[in-house]
Parts: sequence; C-alpha cells; structure tokens
Amino acid sequence: MNFYWSPEINPVVLSDKSIKLAHFSDLHLAGRQDRRRLERLGTLLTAIVNAGCSHIVISGDLFNSTDPADWVVIREILQEKGLYSWDRVTIIPGNHDLINLEEEMRIYNALNPDSKSRTRRVLEKTKEFCNVFRELITGEDTVAGFPYIKVLQYGDMTVSLVMVNTVFPWANTDNPLGARGYARPEELRALLDPSVDSALKGSFVVGVCHHAYRIYGTGILIDQAFDWTMELKNREELLQTMLRLRARLLLHGHFHRFQAYTAGGIRVVNGGSFSYNPRRYSEIAIYPDGNFKQKFVDI
Ligand SMILES: [Fe+2]
Ligand SMILES: [Fe+2]
Repeated sequence: MNFYWSPEINPVVLSDKSIKLAHFSDLHLAGRQDRRRLERLGTLLTAIVNAGCSHIVISGDLFNSTDPADWVVIREILQEKGLYSWDRVTIIPGNHDLINLEEEMRIYNALNPDSKSRTRRVLEKTKEFCNVFRELITGEDTVAGFPYIKVLQYGDMTVSLVMVNTVFPWANTDNPLGARGYARPEELRALLDPSVDSALKGSFVVGVCHHAYRIYGTGILIDQAFDWTMELKNREELLQTMLRLRARLLLHGHFHRFQAYTAGGIRVVNGGSFSYNPRRYSEIAIYPDGNFKQKFVDI
C-alpha cells in the first residue's frame, strides 16, 4: 500500500464574506506549445476571479500526456495569476495525467504484464503529480497525497473539500482504455477515520474526484459498452463514503459533459470539459445557512 494521508488540516482564515467555488475539468491541453488554449485558460481564470470565486477546483485530465514538464505549465499560469496557493486552488489528476496508454499497451504489457507493476506505475505517477502541485495540497513545501482534505475557513463558515484519486491502472481485460475508475478501498477507509469526522464537523463538505458517478445509463447496448469503459467501478462505495462524511456535493469530470444531477441525496456536478468549451465553468454559491446554488456560467 502506498498512499499518503495528511491528517493535518491547515485552517485558513479569509476575510471574504461571499463563498463561491468555481469548478472546471478535462483541459486535455497539448503541452506548452498549445498557446491558444493556454491563453484561454488564463482568460477563464481571470473571469472566475472577477466573478468573486474564492476557490477553484480543477478535476483532472490536464494534458494529453503524463509528462510532469507539462504540469509545470499549469503551475506557472496559476503563479502568474496569483492563484498558486493552497486556499485558492485544488487540482487532482485524471486518467490522462497518470496513465500513458500507449506505453502500457505496447511496452509494459509485453515486458511485464503483471497487475502489481501497473498499480505501482499509477501510484508513482500520482506521487510525481502531488510533488509538482505539493503547495496546492499541503499549503507547504512538503509532499503529500491522497486522500486529502482541505478545511477552508471563511469567517464563521467552513467549506471542506475531500479529494479522492479514482484513477485505476490500465489492464487489457479490465481497463482496456485506461478510462475506468476505482476509488481505492485504502483511501475510502482512511476517510472513515474518526479524526476526519471531527475535522469536518459543522463544515459544508464537498467531495472531489475525477471519474463520473453517472455516465449515460441508457438501456442501449452500445451505450452500455461505452459506459463500461468509462465507469467508476465502485461508485456506490464512494457515494456511501461521501454520505458518511455528510458531503452535500460531489464534483467530478472525465465524462466530457457539463451536467448536474442528484445521487443518494448528494448533488453531483460534472465540470464538463474545458477542451470542448473553454468559456464555461460551474459556479457554486454557498450560503451561511447551509444552502447552496449551482449554475454553469458562460464567460
Ligand atoms: Fe477527459
Ligand atoms: Fe478522464
């Protein structure tokens, strides 16, 4: 087992009264040379800040590569915008960030097809990802990992984000496109530790993961086949864990659609895909009485 659990919750006191979260996902950028879309990312971030959002969640699939040199580009843009801090931005990885599908299929499968090495590669990539974005995870210059929790304090109110990594290793039979998701039981168990419950007490809790709770869900066979390649295998377990943590919202990406729906009493928001529409994001306004409103905003 190789995961990090960061029990240290760093409270942040902000003077801002309005609590608005922004969420978008699935950028699928083509690297540093993808100038046009990187510019569009800058435009979106500026619009989000101007709309008064206190925190931004980006739920994975940043680039179409697993190269940490690419991830640094996002870090630089956030730094330019003055957003590269723990209390302003949360970024989690998606399958495209952690799984090099071509390598898995052509090289590793031939050389070493055992599942342990695949899991190890995903966990090592996760560690690299957390290392690049460590200041956004811990608020300090130390490496941490999944699952992790942020408790953001805004005056008398706290908003807590609970991050789970749902990237499931590639496997020619069980995950042929590398796009199926799985919340590791170790991570879910860690979240049920009593210390988590007490840290979240009185907080407005928001879960964050990459994979979609719901995909098509139609009875049509071709859709079902597609669902299978994209699905979050143990979505019910993840949902149950979020319910235990009294989460009000679950934010995800992966399935490139801007949509909001309800599952088990939790409002689930798919942040859609920046790659399809770089001028849209999901905005969540949280009120002191515990109510919230979610809408998609076009800039
Ligand atoms: Fe994606
Ligand atoms: Fe994805």
